[in-house]
Amino acid sequence: MSKRIYNFSAGPAMLPTEVLEKSAATLLDYEGKGFGIAECSHRGKEFDCVIDEAIKRCKSLLGIGDSHDVLFLQGGATQLFTLIPMNFLNNSADYLVSGEWSKKAAANGKAMGNVNIVASSESTNFDHAPQPSEWKLNPEADYFHVCSNETVHGHRLPTLPKHPNLVVDASSEFMARPHPVQDIALLYGGAQKNLGPAGVVLTIVRKDLYAKQKKVPTKLWSFKDQADAKSMVNTPPTFGIYILLEVFRWLDAKGGLAAMEKINEQKAKLIYEAIDNSNGFYKGTVSIKEQRSRMNITYRLPSDELTDEFVKTAAKNEMVGLKGYRTVGGIRASTYNAMPVEGCQALASFMKDFASKKS
Ligand SMILES: Cc1ncc(COP(=O)(O)O)c(C=O)c1O
Repeated sequence: MSKRIYNFSAGPAMLPTEVLEKSAATLLDYEGKGFGIAECSHRGKEFDCVIDEAIKRCKSLLGIGDSHDVLFLQGGATQLFTLIPMNFLNNSADYLVSGEWSKKAAANGKAMGNVNIVASSESTNFDHAPQPSEWKLNPEADYFHVCSNETVHGHRLPTLPKHPNLVVDASSEFMARPHPVQDIALLYGGAQKNLGPAGVVLTIVRKDLYAKQKKVPTKLWSFKDQADAKSMVNTPPTFGIYILLEVFRWLDAKGGLAAMEKINEQKAKLIYEAIDNSNGFYKGTVSIKEQRSRMNITYRLPSDELTDEFVKTAAKNEMVGLKGYRTVGGIRASTYNAMPVEGCQALASFMKDFASKKS
């Protein structure tokens, strides 16, 4: 195995080494058949076994019964920003705008119909998610869209709102904690953070939604048709879905989502403590502490020069991907499921050392 370093990239991001090794072997040869998993038909029995096991494990990890379907879609979470209103925005939809991604989702919704922004924290540069007391919900809304973890701004919704048709973009925390799927109408996320490579969007749809679907141009854009075709209206990203299956197996072996959540809390705590104990050298960017993300930890240093030096010196110490999002700056350490506790320990200790040398 080649040497692997700590990659704090926000996505595409680190994947578990065991998953990569198994997937690489299967790319060359699937179960001794003399061909790899990316080289066989999506209509054949080999891939059928893969997708069936992936659906089964996904349902079991998320605790989903018969009420919801598991879909593996394409086009990134961004495509879902359009598909959701295309299918389900009949009269008006509510959107909570808490950061870059929910702002984009709302803008795409607007392009499709009436959107009500229930609250926005843009005036404070998205340093928090608006609190429920500020929300102006429309009781008639077709659905309520939230982003449960804002990847760019580093905050999350500690608890999800209750709504008859709650739609959740969980891209940057999918399967990093348990999700209350029984209270969610549609849950989706790009795979490239916690679940696999870019190119697959894991989508969980409550089946009663299909009855509310509008007419869409072709089956490709229809949730119901994708569900009927087991996500194979056209050729799906077969190898990507295979890697998701390996990640699901890995998550099962780790003890499931509640176990992952505990580890993720422990990892994030190490870095937040390094911020909070730095006598102000590092400043967290999130103004409401209980909203601090466990996945994307965002903070600033006293100057841009020090930020550059921090990123470069960290890279020399085998920690990469720490530069903040292009429009936000500062540092962002993404600590998805595959980041080991040791990676967060190494970063926390590097931060302490750097601060003591530069303060
Ligand atoms: C929360 C969130 N939603 C949506 C997206 C967009 O994903 P994609 O690039 O797969 O369209 C991202 C990408 O980082 C994200 O973090």
